Formats: sequence, structure tokens, C-alpha cells
Amino acid sequence: MPAAGRGIRLGPGAPKALRALSGTPMLVHAVRAMARSRAVSLVVVVAPPDGADEVRRLLDEHTGPAETSTDIVVVPGGETRQDSVRLGLAALPDDVDSVLVHDAARPLVPVETVDAVAAAVREGAPAVVPALPVSDTVKEVQVRGNGEAEPVTGTPERSRLRAVQTPQGFELKVLAAAHAQVVREGDGATDDAGMVERLGVEVVVVPGHDEAFKVTRPLDLVLAEAVLARRRA
Ligand code: CTP
Ligand code: MG
Repeated sequence: MPAAGRGIRLGPGAPKALRALSGTPMLVHAVRAMARSRAVSLVVVVAPPDGADEVRRLLDEHTGPAETSTDIVVVPGGETRQDSVRLGLAALPDDVDSVLVHDAARPLVPVETVDAVAAAVREGAPAVVPALPVSDTVKEVQVRGNGEAEPVTGTPERSRLRAVQTPQGFELKVLAAAHAQVVREGDGATDDAGMVERLGVEVVVVPGHDEAFKVTRPLDLVLAEAVLARRRA
């Protein structure tokens, strides 16, 4: 579970994974969400590099043995998400053969989504991503930035587009090979499945869920707290 990001787009404050959602750190919600799946036997939390001790303390406090029997390991993360995932993979025991990579920033993922991804991997798919159809039309542009007008270069057909979520599921040796290749070639990728695609390995999409949305901007916190309030009602 990569949880080492700063959360720049969320605005000033603690690292994103440690911010409270209805009084409980986002990371705690995310760990509970994964631990709820019977497919998950171990959660490796990749903490902010200077915050591993605090994360360990928080998890001991909120996810003690009374609450979950899932093992939780905490390791310090890296500069980029990709580095953090690689550091998390390095902490897995030798007997693990499949892995789910889940953003701490998607704290409300329903257990059905976790189970669906895990089941597809168990049934033999080397790489599985949950995703939803996109609701906005998407344009490709010539990037200018600085608020300048950007010329449109194309409009991909919306019905063929999917917005990808996590957990993404992999045969561990496939994901490890993808990370090793990216380190060798020294260029980035925005998600784990994208790195696996470059290896020429087939990636399949299974249905995602609205509640697996990523908390990225301040408005997402409002949505997340509303979802939690509805669940408690
Ligand atoms: N992540 C990580 N290590 C990093 C950067 C990101 O483990 N060096 C994790 C985040 O903690 C998050 C997930 O990757 O759970 C998805 O990243 P994102 O939503 O971009 O989170 P941040 O990078 O924290 O946010 P921002 O990009 O706004 O700073
Ligand atoms: Mg980021």
C-alpha cells in the first residue's frame, strides 16, 4: 500500500495518508478496507520516509489484533510512487506469489472490488486493474501550461476509455520484472499496470467502483466524509 506521498494537491497539512477522514486517518480506513478481504493475508504499508514510526504507532492503535488478524508491516517509502511500490515489494516474504497494489489515497474501496481483482489474478490473469467508464469527454492537447490556451490535437472515443483505480493485482514475478525494467531504463510510468504493459504482458480490466475514488483534491475529502456518513446511517 503506497502511502508515502505528500498530498500536494490536497493543500498544506500532514502527509495525505495521515489526514483524518471523519476522525480516523485515511491510511487506517485504507488498511481496514484491504484487511476486510479474505484474499489479503498481509498488508505492507509504505509510509512517508520520515513517518514510518508514527504510522506504525497509528496502526497499532487503530488496527490491533481485536480488529483484524491480517499482518501489517510498515516500511519507509521513496521519492516517487514507483520507488515506494518497489520498496514495498522488497518487503514481501519469499513465499508470496500474487500481490495487490492499493493506494492509501483510495480509503473507501469496497471489499467486493478487492475480491474481484484478487479472484481474477487467482484465476490466472497476470495483471488486473479495476476501472470505470469515463463520464467526461477527454481531449488530447498540445501542453502549454501556465493557464495558456492549449490547442486540441484529438478526441479519443469515450466509449473505449476507462478510468483506472486500485487495487491493481499482479502475479508478483510479473510486477517485479516490470519494476526492474523501469529502473534499468530509468523512465517513469503513472501506474503499475502501465509498466507491465510495456513488458508486453496482457493487462485486463474488471469493473471498478465509484467508492474506490482517489482522494486527491479538497473536494474529495467532502465526498469521502459523505460516503462514510451514509455508511454509518
Ligand atoms: N505515493 C507514495 N510515494 C510517493 C508518492 C505517492 O507512496 N513518493 C502514494 C500516495 O501516498 C498515494 C498514492 O501513491 O497513496 C497515489 O498518489 P497520489 O494520489 O498522487 O498521492 P500524493 O502523491 O500524496 O499526492 P500529490 O500528487 O497531490 O502530492
Ligand atoms: Mg502524486
